[in-house]
Amino acid sequence: MSATILGNPTHSGNQNNHLVGGEIPHEVLRSLYLKDVIANGQTEGSFITFTRAQEDFPSVKKLNPLNKKRILVTGGAGFVGSHLVDRLMLMGHDVICVDNYFTGSKVNIAHWIGHPNFEMIRHDVVDPLLVEVDQIYHLACPASPVHYQSNSVKTLKTSFFGTYNMLGLAKRVKARFLLASTSEIYGSPKEHPQNEEYWGHVNCFGPRACYDEGKRVAEALTYSYARQDGVDVRIARIFNTFGPRMNFNDGRVVSNFILQALRSEDITIYGDGSATRSFQYMHDLIDGLIQLMESDCTEPVNLGNPHEFTIKEFANMVIGLVNEQRDQPSTSNVVYLPAVIDDPPRRKPDISRAKERLNWEPRISVHEGLSETVSYFKRAMELEIAPVL
Ligand SMILES: NC(=O)c1ccc[n+]([C@@H]2O[C@H](COP(=O)([O-])OP(=O)(O)OC[C@H]3O[C@@H](n4cnc5c(N)ncnc54)[C@H](O)[C@@H]3O)[C@@H](O)[C@H]2O)c1
Repeated sequence: MSATILGNPTHSGNQNNHLVGGEIPHEVLRSLYLKDVIANGQTEGSFITFTRAQEDFPSVKKLNPLNKKRILVTGGAGFVGSHLVDRLMLMGHDVICVDNYFTGSKVNIAHWIGHPNFEMIRHDVVDPLLVEVDQIYHLACPASPVHYQSNSVKTLKTSFFGTYNMLGLAKRVKARFLLASTSEIYGSPKEHPQNEEYWGHVNCFGPRACYDEGKRVAEALTYSYARQDGVDVRIARIFNTFGPRMNFNDGRVVSNFILQALRSEDITIYGDGSATRSFQYMHDLIDGLIQLMESDCTEPVNLGNPHEFTIKEFANMVIGLVNEQRDQPSTSNVVYLPAVIDDPPRRKPDISRAKERLNWEPRISVHEGLSETVSYFKRAMELEIAPVL
């Protein structure tokens, strides 16, 4: 089944009319992260009650068996992985989610547990796994600096052995393999914006090296398996992505700023606020990942939103959106702390290749995505069931 975006590309106005990849209405996806799942848990004092799903599963497409694929998503209980699982399930595929729950949570995929098309396996990708599948989306790896630096050796093991095991599986069962790589492989870039031909500027001794170099070796492994063993590979270089189900404690600007503003705490900016970042909303990323998997593009592809904001502008946007959704305006002030080591001053994707080869570009504005994300964080905070590590 093609994942081509078939909807009306307009993204202003009525949000409920979006169609995203696989002709899935945005409204259907939204119900999975803004309503049902979070409403499943209620906290009272020191108790939390999860309600067994009373309602039917969301309807999934009925696919011709020739088009129905068995798809493995590693890291499928994480932020990006769980949205990818949602999309592939709604598109009608058989989905196997593998996760060790290091940063992911069963809450993120609870709405599919028991569905005949869905299986969940608790497994660490550092160990080999054998399942018969047609496609592998390999996302398993912590993505936030707080988490990947908490056990840097494990991060390197996950990046190398995890990718090695999944590529070995792809070779054995002849599955197509997609690696979730990252813009971090460009390090602190000397070129701006970054296109896929840029080799990067990475500190292999720094605190971020376990992740940056881990992903670089994962890319090298991926291409070695392609060259040596003919494995059919795709590489997505993902730039900053945000959205509902981000871990509350992931320590990155989006969750930090939203939580600080919702709690009326000071918004902390590391550095002077002039560093720029580009942020993409997760639905755009999921479209890009599926379109890349379905394409014939074997070169690495940047997936990100080229729209740049200074961190300061971004903080003000968050405060504005939080104020729109609260009765009491946030009393947060912006405070500046020393810059973090090796934090790149600028990062912006050149997405020409994605446009040309996949006909992909982001369609959802940062403002709109952020508004949904604020709603999610606010609701999860009210119910006190947010996935907090
Ligand atoms: N979110 C972003 O902005 C971003 C940017 C660039 C790249 N990426 C990449 O996308 C992928 C998903 O990122 P995310 O933001 O969803 O992160 P996340 O931390 O929410 O998800 C990662 C998932 O992988 C699981 N995991 C970690 N180590 C594992 C292991 N050894 N075995 C099995 N499961 C394991 C975690 O429990 C979690 O569910 C990662 O590979 C990340 O490097 C994300």
